[in-house]
Amino acid sequence: MTVHFIGAGPGAADLLTLRGRDIIAACPVCLYAGSLVPQEILGHCPADAKIINTAAMDLDTIITTIKTATEAGKDVARLHSGDLSVWSAMGEQMRRLRAENIAVSVTPGVPSFAAAAAALGTELTLPGLAQSVVLTRTPGRASSMPEGESLKNFAATGATLAIHLSIQNLDTVVADLTPSYGDDCPVAVVYRASWPDEQIIRATLSTIAATVTPEIARTALILVGPALAGEGFDESCLYATDYDRRYRPQTADSPWASWSPDDE
Ligand SMILES: C[S@@+](CC[C@H](N)C(=O)[O-])C[C@H]1O[C@@H](n2cnc3c(N)ncnc32)[C@H](O)[C@@H]1O
Repeated sequence: MTVHFIGAGPGAADLLTLRGRDIIAACPVCLYAGSLVPQEILGHCPADAKIINTAAMDLDTIITTIKTATEAGKDVARLHSGDLSVWSAMGEQMRRLRAENIAVSVTPGVPSFAAAAAALGTELTLPGLAQSVVLTRTPGRASSMPEGESLKNFAATGATLAIHLSIQNLDTVVADLTPSYGDDCPVAVVYRASWPDEQIIRATLSTIAATVTPEIARTALILVGPALAGEGFDESCLYATDYDRRYRPQTADSPWASWSPDDE
C-alpha cells in the first residue's frame, strides 16, 4: 500500500495535475490539509472514499490514521496546498512513514508563487532586472528562521522575493527591505491567488502597508523586486535575430551549422 502525497495547487480546482486527479480517484482514503484545499478537488475521490480534514489533527494522529488505512489494505491520497516542496510538512510525515516501512509517492502541484505571478501577468525573472527568485518567509509562532536566512540578507541580492506566510508581518517586511530596494521598489500582494475572491494589490515599498486592508490577514503572498514593475528590462538573447544557437545557427562556420533537429 502507498501513501500518495499530492500537491493540490493554489486554490482553483482545475490547477491540479492530471496525475494528481487520477491518484485521488483511485484512493479509498483521502487526508487533506484544511481550508486551502478546495472542496471541488475532493470531488475526485471515489464516492465511498473516507475523506478526512487534518486541520485539527496532530502529527501522531495523522500518522496513526494513515497507518490504520494502509494496514487495512488501502492506498491513501494525502493532499497539501500548492506544491509539496515548500511549507507542506511533507518531510516530517514522510520520515515517520518511511520508518514504518510504508511506501510513499510524490506528485507535484502548482505552487502559490506561480499562481500569484500568473495573476499578476508577470515574469519574475526579467533580463537585466532579476534572474533569481527567493521563496522565503518571516519567522512565525511555530517556526523560527535559520541564521543567515534573513530578509535583509536576501534583499542585498536584489532578487525577486516571494514572501510567504508573512502578510501579518508586513511592517517588518517593509522595514527590512527598504534599505536595499528603496522606497519606490514595486511590491505586489496577491491574496488567495486563483480563488474566486482573489485580490491583487500593487504598490511600492513606501505605500504597500497603507494600501493592504485588514481583511487581507492570511493566504497572501508578498512579491517584491524591480521585476514587479514589468518594464525597463532587456530582451533575452535567446530569441534575438542574430543569436547563434543550436536551433538557429547564424553562419556556415557556427558550431551548430551541421546540426539538424533529427540529431537529437
Ligand atoms: C503553508 S504555506 C503553503 C505553501 C504551498 N505549499 C505552496 O506551494 O505555495 C501557506 C502560505 O502560502 C501562501 N499561499 C498559499 N496559497 C496561496 C494563494 N492561493 N494565494 C496567495 N498565497 C498563497 C501564503 O503565503 C500562505 O500563507
